[in-house]
Amino acid sequence: MYLNGKRIVLGVCGGIAAYRVAELARMLMKQGAEVRCVMTEAACEFISPLTFEALTGEEVHRQLFDLTRERNMGHIQLARWADVVLVAPATANSIAKFAHGVADDLLTTLMQVCEAPVLLAPAMNASMWASEATKRNVKSLCSRGMHIIEPASGTLACGEQGQGRLAELQDIIDALVPLLASDELKGQTWVINAGPTVEAWDAVRILTNRASGKLGVAMAIHAAMMGASVTLVAGPGVELTPDWLERINIVSADEMLSACLQRAVHTDVFIGAAAVSDFRFAQSSNEKMKRGNMTHVDVRLLANPDIIAAVAAMPDRPRKVIAFAAETSDLIAHAKEKLARKHVDAIVANQTLNMGKDEMAGYWLTDKTESFIECMSKQAFAREIVMKIVEGK
Ligand code: C5P
Repeated sequence: MYLNGKRIVLGVCGGIAAYRVAELARMLMKQGAEVRCVMTEAACEFISPLTFEALTGEEVHRQLFDLTRERNMGHIQLARWADVVLVAPATANSIAKFAHGVADDLLTTLMQVCEAPVLLAPAMNASMWASEATKRNVKSLCSRGMHIIEPASGTLACGEQGQGRLAELQDIIDALVPLLASDELKGQTWVINAGPTVEAWDAVRILTNRASGKLGVAMAIHAAMMGASVTLVAGPGVELTPDWLERINIVSADEMLSACLQRAVHTDVFIGAAAVSDFRFAQSSNEKMKRGNMTHVDVRLLANPDIIAAVAAMPDRPRKVIAFAAETSDLIAHAKEKLARKHVDAIVANQTLNMGKDEMAGYWLTDKTESFIECMSKQAFAREIVMKIVEGK
């Protein structure tokens, strides 16, 4: 729920991509945002306002001269209400109107009075996007501080090829999120490791685990949304993250150790959410090993360095170091032992069966406190952890 309580005015203009924006509205709501739609007259030709009313549970704002709606929430109030205005699809016509200060309908008038950040997601025919007029208008809007997520390339609705398709919906949300960041953690640097590590035995065989890195990614996004500058050190297979989040991809525990030691110096918070492989192969090969007629192979494993303990032992260690403990039994006892042994400030104890899942429950443990966090989505759980770190609980 990265967009919890955030107020978004969604301006829908008249382009064929308007039908994809219905799904976008649903995705924003799912992230916890409050969405109010403003549709241009042309947009209503492409998709019914009823679709957006059903999805957002709110009346769609359409006309400037609608007295009832103006009384309930007029265009000025709507502009003031918004934490952000997202226009998708932004057509060449609307972009031109915004650029020249035309205010002849509700959306263009609202844009004139809006002081909230604005993100435009254009979609149009490739030649219109490439036209001098559109280029100049987009440039002028950018110079006034508006944000643009450029259209994607591919086959367009008109059958032509080129740049003009509405950007991917998740990319639009990723571009929107930083515009809604608060500044509570401004000036702070956080380093978070996440996901599995992979130890190679030969050219094809590996030693790894079931971690997905979902929780680490969610904590990184929450901290960044609160204004921290965050580095995610991610193991193989960790989901894609927004461009604005600094990410270092590693494979083995050794690589994760070097990246963490280098980046954690003098930081505010280090979170070790990664499921680091405790062991690596004593011997590995770049070639694929042949089975031949062997009946068995003896494999020797060596212990990997303990990354979080190494970070906590640095002379210029982070102000707070938070570990995770995934256990199959005696959750709290094992986690408390690790809290002391690894010299960390807090540890989140949870069951190993949470690995790879979308939900989890767990305990937040420090040397003084112990609290249970009930089962919830990993995004929500991540928020709880970030809040506990911020509030110094
Ligand atoms: O000892 P255990 O692996 O259960 O400890 C879990 C915590 O220690 C996690 O925070 C994990 O990221 C970290 N860890 C580490 N390096 C290792 C093993 C675990 O940083 N080699």
